[in-house]
Amino acid sequence: WKGHRSFGTEVNHAAAQHKKSPKADGRKLNAWTQWGELKECVVGVADNACFPPVQPAMIPEINDPMLRKVLGEWPRGRKSQRCVDAANEELDNLVNVLEGEGVKTLRPEVMDWSQPLNTPFFSVENQYVACCVRDTIITVGKTAIEATMSRRDRYFEILAVRQILRDLWREDPEMLWKAAPKPSMADDMYNLSWWDWTEKDRYEHMHKYQYCITNEEPLFDAADITRCGKDIFVQPSMTCNYAGIEWLRRELAPQGIRVHSAHFPYDLAPSHIDCTFVVLGPRLVLTNPERPIAERDAAFWKENGWDFVDCGQPDNPERPAFSQSSKWLSMNIFVIGPSKVIVEEQEKGLQELLKHRCGFETVIPVPFRNVFEYGGSLHCSTWDTCREDNMVDLFP
Ligand code: NVA
Repeated sequence: WKGHRSFGTEVNHAAAQHKKSPKADGRKLNAWTQWGELKECVVGVADNACFPPVQPAMIPEINDPMLRKVLGEWPRGRKSQRCVDAANEELDNLVNVLEGEGVKTLRPEVMDWSQPLNTPFFSVENQYVACCVRDTIITVGKTAIEATMSRRDRYFEILAVRQILRDLWREDPEMLWKAAPKPSMADDMYNLSWWDWTEKDRYEHMHKYQYCITNEEPLFDAADITRCGKDIFVQPSMTCNYAGIEWLRRELAPQGIRVHSAHFPYDLAPSHIDCTFVVLGPRLVLTNPERPIAERDAAFWKENGWDFVDCGQPDNPERPAFSQSSKWLSMNIFVIGPSKVIVEEQEKGLQELLKHRCGFETVIPVPFRNVFEYGGSLHCSTWDTCREDNMVDLFP
């Protein structure tokens, strides 16, 4: 017993020491906007990626009809090493580009996602990958918020950036670190019948904003949120429910942050706002021509002097066979400063639009199409931990 007590004392002593990581020298967590000068960010990794298992929040489909015929059903287990290497090459290149622009970069821990999960409420045969870090965590001002997540195979994905969070939290005495309540992800959190709705049913329901998740417990992926200083906007979707938005509202209200919902009725299966409504800078948004924001929401932005610029059709609309995202990954760009943006290299039309219509002085093209397989592009694969910006009020 004595030994045990002394062990406890040692642990407390160690925890009280100010342990610095090699990369953590006087760092700050700070990001109020989508456009402040980027100082530090995390870039995802594709290592040990697995196919997402079929589950109530996701019934994946093979996009290529020929391949669908050959394989018969959605594949299981690990993705091929070739597919992982191709994505990692582009992710590593993004790191080099960011470092070249003076942005400090960090990477998630490489974990074994082929392990099954068994919890009191669900089981999945394998997990996914830590590529789209944006979905798991967001910096809102000086607070890091771990999302609940909405898919079972992504339940523990946040652990890949836990060490980064621990280091930051030790380094920055002003940082707040919050984790949204871990959902049970029990069957009653999902609306299984949604998957049987026809396109017509979904169209008829579009103004009700009901998707494959219920409102039983707060649910959100962090990529459903976009930041404009004092105001953040959250999209109800397949990955975010109204209870999730309410949780964010209550948590952030004491800090003076206003949480709004943003609706996109024509997206009949929405998830993640960053291919639909991409805030480029103060009073400027890149909008998706096929997914206009609901009229009532649009009025609020317009009243506050915001301008919307429609994105053109993607130059390359092809979707990798196993990608569960749309052709609009073309819009998933990464603004790294008030006048600087990173765009997928094949999207020439968008690059021109950003330069000539949206006032970006520097548009950096990078190859990223091998990452599309993992459901995201440049914005999805990153988590901005530090930007030079503040709590601007653009909706006074
Ligand atoms: N669900 C979005 C992708 C988000 C990264 C889309 O398919 O457009």
